[in-house]
Amino acid sequence: MPSLLSIRGLEVAYGAVQVLFGVNLEVQTGEIVAIIGPNGAGKSTVIKAVVGLAAVQQGQIVFDGREIANLPAHIMPALGIGYVPQGRIVFAQMTVTDNLEMGAFLQKDSVKRRQAVQQVFEQFPRLYERRHQPAGKLSGGEQQMLAIGRALMMNPRLVILDEPSLGLSPKYVDVIFDQLLALKQQGRTLLMVEQNAARALELSDRGYALELGHNRFADSGEKLLANPDVRRMYLGGA
Ligand SMILES: Nc1ncnc2c1ncn2[C@@H]1O[C@H](COP(=O)(O)OP(=O)(O)OP(=O)(O)O)[C@@H](O)[C@H]1O
Ligand SMILES: [Mg+2]
Repeated sequence: MPSLLSIRGLEVAYGAVQVLFGVNLEVQTGEIVAIIGPNGAGKSTVIKAVVGLAAVQQGQIVFDGREIANLPAHIMPALGIGYVPQGRIVFAQMTVTDNLEMGAFLQKDSVKRRQAVQQVFEQFPRLYERRHQPAGKLSGGEQQMLAIGRALMMNPRLVILDEPSLGLSPKYVDVIFDQLLALKQQGRTLLMVEQNAARALELSDRGYALELGHNRFADSGEKLLANPDVRRMYLGGA
């Protein structure tokens, strides 16, 4: 079966500074795939290249059989790619419901848009309870749920998340990882970058460790967790 997302030989530079040097990565339908690696390894840049926020110099990014490298970011939701950027970015002055609606601004059918909002509320009952609140008043964990919910509004075939657990309290880290697993169990396909590498790999069918813009390790989540070199380098030893 062809991959849902296939990245081959990806090279990206910011100005004169090259940061990715031929990265390869595959995501099959139904998988959770994690990208791990130290700060500055290029994890976010891989994601940004996929969603049209970093210019691709070389290589292919094929999504669902279509070459998408260097397509503009704003068409990604319509192609079936949902993106949750790093940092829980929500529209602070807007209500929870309006934030969700923004995730489906391309959906002109208001009935379908409302149905999508209801589905997100079923997924995240906490957001339903707070639906009339401005997003800026939510806790960090609730804002992250909202950012994820917004990315689900167009019913994406691939959900890409950059550091979904970063900066959250331990309680909310658990909530977010539980939600990611629930999304997989509902048949969604996820590609995520995570600092919390052990937690991410436990959940993942496949993982990639990047270093200085190169692939360093690629294997099943289980095998990476059991690999002594991976443990020493990325999982704090032991
Ligand atoms: N907009 C930019 N302009 C110039 N250099 C950038 C830009 N964004 C990232 N970089 C550089 O590219 C390299 C890779 O950055 P990237 O954000 O992809 O790393 P990362 O693995 O996501 O790191 P972190 O774990 O800190 O989020 C770093 O050296 C970074 O300084
Ligand atoms: Mg990053």
